[in-house]
This record gives sequence, C-alpha cells and structure tokens, in this order.
Amino acid sequence: MGTGQTLYKKAKTMIPGGTQLLSKRPEMFAPGQWPAYYSKAKGCRVWDLDGKEYIDVSYMGIGANVLGYADDAVDEAAKSAITNGSMCTLNAPEEVYLTEKLLEIHPWAGGVRYAKAGGESMALAVRIARAFTKKEKILFCGYHGWHDWYLSANLSEGDALADQHLSGLEPLGVPKGLAGTNLPFHYNAIEEFKELVEKNHDDIAAVVMEPVRNDYPENGFLEKIRKITEKLNIVLIFDEITAGFRLCTGGSHLAPNMGGGIA
Ligand SMILES: Cc1ncc(COP(=O)(O)O)c(C=O)c1O
Repeated sequence: MGTGQTLYKKAKTMIPGGTQLLSKRPEMFAPGQWPAYYSKAKGCRVWDLDGKEYIDVSYMGIGANVLGYADDAVDEAAKSAITNGSMCTLNAPEEVYLTEKLLEIHPWAGGVRYAKAGGESMALAVRIARAFTKKEKILFCGYHGWHDWYLSANLSEGDALADQHLSGLEPLGVPKGLAGTNLPFHYNAIEEFKELVEKNHDDIAAVVMEPVRNDYPENGFLEKIRKITEKLNIVLIFDEITAGFRLCTGGSHLAPNMGGGIA
C-alpha cells in the first residue's frame, strides 16, 4: 500500500465520501490499490505520491484534459493571466473575446453568460426555460448535476434516477412540492418519449438531454425530438458539459469499474 492509500484512509475520516468527486474515488477502480493522489501530471503520464510513474489510460481528468495534462500552451496562458492579476474590480476583456468566438461557432445563440460549474449552468438553463415558457415540467435523459430541479425526479414513486445516474439517491432536502416536475426518459427510446409528451404536453417547459454519451443516436432520435419540441414550443436543452468525456473514453464515468485504468 503506497502513500496515496494511507492518505486516502485519513481523508475518509475527514472528507465525506473521501474525495470531492464520486468519479475520483479509488474504490471505482482498484479498492485498496489505487494510487489515489498525484504529485505531477504531464501529457498522458501521472506520478503518484511515491514518485511512481503511470500512463493514464482511464479518463484524463474526467474528460477535462482533452489536450493531455499540463499542456504547455494552456499553462503559459494561465501563468500569464496570474502574473497580470487574475482578479480585478474591472472586467476581464477575455470574456468579450471568448463570447465573440462562441457566437461565431454558434450564431443561433444570440448571447452568452458564464457559470462556474456544469450543474449550476443546467439549473440556470432550466430556470430560464421555465421563465420563458411559463411552464414547469422538464423531461430529461441522463445526468445533469445534483441541483433540486434534477434530484426532484426521485420524489415520485420508484427510483427514477437509477437508470439515469445512480440507484438509491434520496432526495433529502429537496422541496416535496417539486414532485412530478422532472420526468425521465431513456436514450433512443422515442416511443417512451412520445408517450411522456402526449401525457404532459401542456405543461412541459423543456427537454434536457445530452446529444450523445454512451450510445450514438439511432433512427433519427435527435431529429425526431427536435421536431416534436419545435412543434410544441418546448425548449430543447443539449447538455454538452462532459462532451469531451465521450471523446476520451467512449463511455460514462458514472459507471463503476468501467474498465479504464492506470497502467
Ligand atoms: C452531462 C453532465 N452534466 C452536468 C454535470 C455536472 O457538472 P458539475 O459537476 O461541473 O456541476 C456533469 C458532471 O459529470 C455531466 O456529466
């Protein structure tokens, strides 16, 4: 057992869940064996707390490091931003430069606001869709963070999030009044989706889903959803927060023992 496992044992006595992210728990990979912490990472290589070197063939920082660890160009830009003061009373001009770029790529968008995390941006998107449509129900597929709007799916009978995220999630602290406002459907199950729309069509504010994750769309699934939502003036929200993840692994980081690893 290396220094990493010893530190992880200590962490579990002080940090609920042991790590800040479920997907980084050593138990997801090799219980009692996983290096758990890194001292350095570069390209696809990782060094643990004992200086042992590995090649990361798991999921490269939960899909965030699509360019590899400690990419020189990214690091130089970050270092120069720090040297010039990364926080100030005035605004960072980069927010305008990036907005221009994003609108160039997505001319349909009309404007850009930034959020600090994926779950936060999804909660904002859902609130905006509800405000815009003056309706409350959401149809969703997949995982989109852990805010009240999302976890409320488990206020209804059964274990709605079991197929979408994890089983047995208790929606403790989520207002009971949100029951029935977030309804799940499965990817590529167009008939199930149509039935849900049929039953709720006067009340649906938005459909929330990832365009692609574990599976590719079949039989024009996305086009069919777009057609239905467009016809009924339902906002269609595509969550591409971990789109890079698909690129890295071709799969979900939420499934334990997914077969990736550190070699
Ligand atoms: C598709 C998707 N949406 C939203 C989130 C939540 O993002 P965050 O953890 O940054 O709040 C995740 C996180 O894994 C995700 O995979």
